[in-house]
Amino acid sequence: MKLNLHEKRVLITGSSRGIGLAISEAFLEEGARVTLTSRHQSDLDQLKNTLSQRFVQSSILALACEFTDIERIRKLKEQINLTWKGLDILIINLGSGKSVSEPIPSIENFERIFQVNFDSAINTSREFYSLIKESRGSILFIASIAGVEVTGAPTDYSVAKSALIAYSKNLARKAARDGVRVNCIAPGNIYFDGGTWEEKVKADPERIQRLIETTVPLHRFGKPEEIAAAVAFLASERSSFTTGACLIIDGGQTARIF
Ligand SMILES: NC(=O)c1ccc[n+]([C@@H]2O[C@H](COP(=O)([O-])OP(=O)(O)OC[C@H]3O[C@@H](n4cnc5c(N)ncnc54)[C@H](OP(=O)(O)O)[C@@H]3O)[C@@H](O)[C@H]2O)c1
Repeated sequence: MKLNLHEKRVLITGSSRGIGLAISEAFLEEGARVTLTSRHQSDLDQLKNTLSQRFVQSSILALACEFTDIERIRKLKEQINLTWKGLDILIINLGSGKSVSEPIPSIENFERIFQVNFDSAINTSREFYSLIKESRGSILFIASIAGVEVTGAPTDYSVAKSALIAYSKNLARKAARDGVRVNCIAPGNIYFDGGTWEEKVKADPERIQRLIETTVPLHRFGKPEEIAAAVAFLASERSSFTTGACLIIDGGQTARIF
């Protein structure tokens, strides 16, 4: 199947490692133009050099941006617009589940977690909406199964991801009139070197192995590229009738009849 993503202009928030990096590579493999982002310009420059050995260098922009700061998001928009004169696909991947296990996290925790997982997503989609509307493009949010049901993840993270899914679906209905499609993906446990699951496995390998075996029907972690493949499909014109969807990719962890 041809995804027809050649030359498409794509922004991926939080793409220097993990799921965001895999998404960037998937789009580059399809011949798209990709803006890599994180808070650290030196990491991004290094990554651009590495990726340039496999992909066309001029297809890669590497721009640092603190997505919890709306002024920085506006500056990023100017930079992208200056180089590419628009944007076709916006992937809002940035998020973090690093919080506490208390029954009721403090308001400071809620605020911090909402800032990274929810506020940054709303602000990024708002600031880039005019460009996506102009290209009749698509927006995709990376949520989590923690936003779909109660999995034992930190409460503030779970609530922030639920809010993100609700936002994505509301936006999908309203953006349809502009020819813009909006979807989201809810991943389960995704393992990669340097990721949070690697940390957890190192801290207590037996507990994590038990957890995966008892809660995930496929008995394994997911891989970033398994999320990236679905992102590329949902963002492409091959999904032209799909909007307002939330695709769960979790090895069957949350599969059940209501
Ligand atoms: N991994 C999983 O098992 C899993 C499961 C379900 C859902 N998810 C969701 O999938 C998404 C990606 O997860 P991941 O595990 O790949 O994330 P990750 O390893 O924490 O990577 C996050 C990326 O975002 C950048 N970043 C962090 N804070 C930033 C900020 N304030 N402004 C700009 N960039 C920032 C990081 O680079 P710097 O730190 O250098 O800035 C990095 O490139 C998240 O939304 C997460 O909630 C992950």
